[in-house]
Amino acid sequence: MTLIKPHGADALNPRIASGQRLADLREEADGLLSITVSSATAANAVMLAAGYFTPLEGYMNRADALSVAKTLSTTQGLFWPIPVLNLVESFSGEPGDRIALRDPNIEGEPVIAVMDVSAVESLSDHDMALMTLEIFGTQDPEHPGVATFNGQGRILLSGPIEVLNYSYFQSDFPDTFRTAVEIRSEIESRGWQRVVAFQTRNPMHRAHEELCRMAMDDLQADGVLIHMLLGKLKAGDIPAEVRDDAIRTMVDHYFPANTVMVTGYGFDMLYAGPREAVLHAVFRQNAGCTELIVGRDHAGVGDYYGGFDAQTIFDERVPEGSLEIQIYRADHTAYSKKLDRVVMMKDAPDHTPDDFVLLSGTKVRQMLGQGIAPPAEFSRPEVAKILMDYYQSLDS
Ligand code: ADX
Repeated sequence: MTLIKPHGADALNPRIASGQRLADLREEADGLLSITVSSATAANAVMLAAGYFTPLEGYMNRADALSVAKTLSTTQGLFWPIPVLNLVESFSGEPGDRIALRDPNIEGEPVIAVMDVSAVESLSDHDMALMTLEIFGTQDPEHPGVATFNGQGRILLSGPIEVLNYSYFQSDFPDTFRTAVEIRSEIESRGWQRVVAFQTRNPMHRAHEELCRMAMDDLQADGVLIHMLLGKLKAGDIPAEVRDDAIRTMVDHYFPANTVMVTGYGFDMLYAGPREAVLHAVFRQNAGCTELIVGRDHAGVGDYYGGFDAQTIFDERVPEGSLEIQIYRADHTAYSKKLDRVVMMKDAPDHTPDDFVLLSGTKVRQMLGQGIAPPAEFSRPEVAKILMDYYQSLDS
């Protein structure tokens, strides 16, 4: 049985070091010039380490970053949707140096990777503005992804890396954090051929749950990979450990055994909507999935993106043959009071908005904060309980 090919390569290229190589790098790192990187850069290192960013070997230079931002392709013609960068405030080394990258997310800032610096380039305000607009579709500093992106330095260090560890992801989420290498091998050992990936940064409500079920049924898939983001989120989003608990509880209660893999990846949320959806597709292909669910406002925030921009980008900006993974396009999904089940709205053309149970995220948060469970048509009671406990713990 052969799984879907990794992106742009015949085999995954995880940049993690192990065994003697790891011991050698640890020793070498002690004597190297070191620099503490941004959380985004450390998260990129974890994605490179885990094989999710195959076939990349490290951080992009200015020409590739601008090319990727503008055309979704590197100067060498590799399809890639979002620049993978190491932006720092200042740098005392020079091209040709080997340097140690320190992890800002762990106390004591231990070394996360060793980098061969191929180039040191300054990005102009114009470069940053162009990339920001291309990646996020806005330059609004209130956009959480734009704020994080522009909060980094302007000196771009590019070159290949070897990674020493998976930052806090493996220690904090031992049951959930998985590399692309591990997921591929698990898919293979389960004998799954057709695998649907579900991206999420939220606890799974009924609509999310039903999307997975509908995709499985429509595609006759062997299984679903629930693949949650475990990195940084904007204020107000549900922390990963609470979400993990809610999702596992939902899967245990409502899915047949051996049809779902609950896993997570170590990356900070970009909130880049359509562009992030394409990145999501790239790294789910690397993880061995044949389809990715993209629904309403995928990876979005506020009103920055149209509800289905993250679907149309695959028609407009992803040339035929760039990716092997297919997109399962989901319409707005909600519980129909008329039909007594969750449906995609396109499948219920006779319905008015009142026929659906529709709750905004803000409304749900308010209810949970007040100890009121959202209706069972919106959230499974087991999930609602976990979320209520969490929101109430915030008040105490
Ligand atoms: S995301 O930022 O990770 O995309 P979220 O966890 O809310 O956010 O969504 C996960 C996936 O479910 C995305 O593909 C999103 O488009 C889809 N989705 C969430 N809610 C709905 C809904 N009510 N209708 C259709 N798709 C939805």
